[in-house]
Amino acid sequence: HMASYLQIPDDEKGYELDVFCVPKHYEEDLDRVIIPHGLIMDRTERLARDIVRDMGTHHIVALCVLKGGYKFFADLLDYIKALNQNSDKSVPLTVDFIRLKSYCNDQSTNSVKVIGGDELSTLTGKDIVETGKTMETLLSLLSEYKPKMVKVVSLLVKRTPRSSGYRPDYIGFEVPDSFLVGYALDYNEYFRDLSHICILTEGAKEKYKV
Ligand code: IMP
Ligand code: MG
Repeated sequence: HMASYLQIPDDEKGYELDVFCVPKHYEEDLDRVIIPHGLIMDRTERLARDIVRDMGTHHIVALCVLKGGYKFFADLLDYIKALNQNSDKSVPLTVDFIRLKSYCNDQSTNSVKVIGGDELSTLTGKDIVETGKTMETLLSLLSEYKPKMVKVVSLLVKRTPRSSGYRPDYIGFEVPDSFLVGYALDYNEYFRDLSHICILTEGAKEKYKV
């Protein structure tokens, strides 16, 4: 079945920065808030419910794709834990972490570097799927461990003509084809320390360029 998700349209205006709280050091760098933190949390709560429903009582190895996936992973697991401790059935969870790197400035590079991860298996939590290349690389790596089942949960999927066609099993939001930061998504390591998902100004792309 096709995953349901929340669609953020191309003409989404988002919200003015000054109706929410953003760090002073990023005030000049951000255009608009596209997905406020509260909406991220509400959507993540529902993803947790869908996952628990689908997993039955199978043991899950939750694999976090660092660094961009760490906020989503932690919040998703908190919601799964809350369900586990408040219902008649529960899914046993263990966690693992892997680090992937493929981006420089706002562009995908051709190599995907993989660091870490010792018990690679079931549920993979990720920040964003753009072309799908990073996730396809990781999935082919995971398949060597012959896991019983692999399910991919991505907070964001970008609508882009550069997509390989890859779709995760669970999707939080489908977003327009612009570079997004915040909630652990970075631009050259900056903006992970921002709670909301925002659009960068062109000036910020220059300012933090490497
Ligand atoms: P893909 O391989 O093209 O699907 O790119 C996925 C990876 O690129 C993500 O895990 C991010 O690290 C990075 N990425 C892609 N789009 C964005 C974005 O809009 N903001 C921040 N990082 C992004
Ligand atoms: Mg990145």
